[in-house]
Amino acid sequence: MMRVVAIDGPAASGKSSTAHAVAQAIGFYHLDSGALYRALTRVALDAAMDPGAINPAELLPIAEQRGLALRVEGDTLSPVLDGTPAEGLIRGPAVTAAVSAVSAVPEVRTWADTAMRALAAEGYPVVVDGRDIGTIVFPEAQVKVFLVATPQVRAERRLMQRGEAADSELVRVEAERLAERDRADSSRAVAPLRKAEGAIEIDGSALSFEEQVERIVDAARSAFRNSTP
Ligand code: DC
Repeated sequence: MMRVVAIDGPAASGKSSTAHAVAQAIGFYHLDSGALYRALTRVALDAAMDPGAINPAELLPIAEQRGLALRVEGDTLSPVLDGTPAEGLIRGPAVTAAVSAVSAVPEVRTWADTAMRALAAEGYPVVVDGRDIGTIVFPEAQVKVFLVATPQVRAERRLMQRGEAADSELVRVEAERLAERDRADSSRAVAPLRKAEGAIEIDGSALSFEEQVERIVDAARSAFRNSTP
């Protein structure tokens, strides 16, 4: 039986760090689905493809040739490329600017969905975070979470993370940018961001990180209480 905790939510809602902490607490692997899209984007950029005009029939075979896959690394399932962890290659501004276009290609999404489902089917218990995990990739997940927070709170946290002082004008601009991205993510044709059926909605605006993690851990513990590892 697959064991899956699915966490979806908008940009900068703290999904990934929350998912990682939840995975550690319950002894599952953390799978950041965005990292897989970022690794595919790295492959496209390395092959000098135009991110806005991706031909999946070209991109996916190159990704396979370069051995792009998810591998166990400590307590995460992370993308590897050319036999080494891709993490150091996928967080830069070039990938960040191009990943939205690459992840909008239906065949690219199908490829990523298949890779993620294969691992869960192999028996890896996973906490997966992304935009469409509870709606499309793992609708049968035992625990589904829709993690939200106001654009204002997300903007403040993001600026703090970057070590920038929470100057009110900077926060306002960043909050507007996030609200705009929410609109784009929620209204896109392919795998739009929305709350999955049966998902618990958690508004992290007024919660500490620890409280946010604890709510999901509690939900997971009760959902998996009767399942044998
Ligand atoms: O969470 P992130 O910034 O690493 O995500 C990178 C991109 O991938 C972002 O543009 C949204 C997209 N993505 C997606 O379309 N579906 C997912 N399940 C996860 C990420």
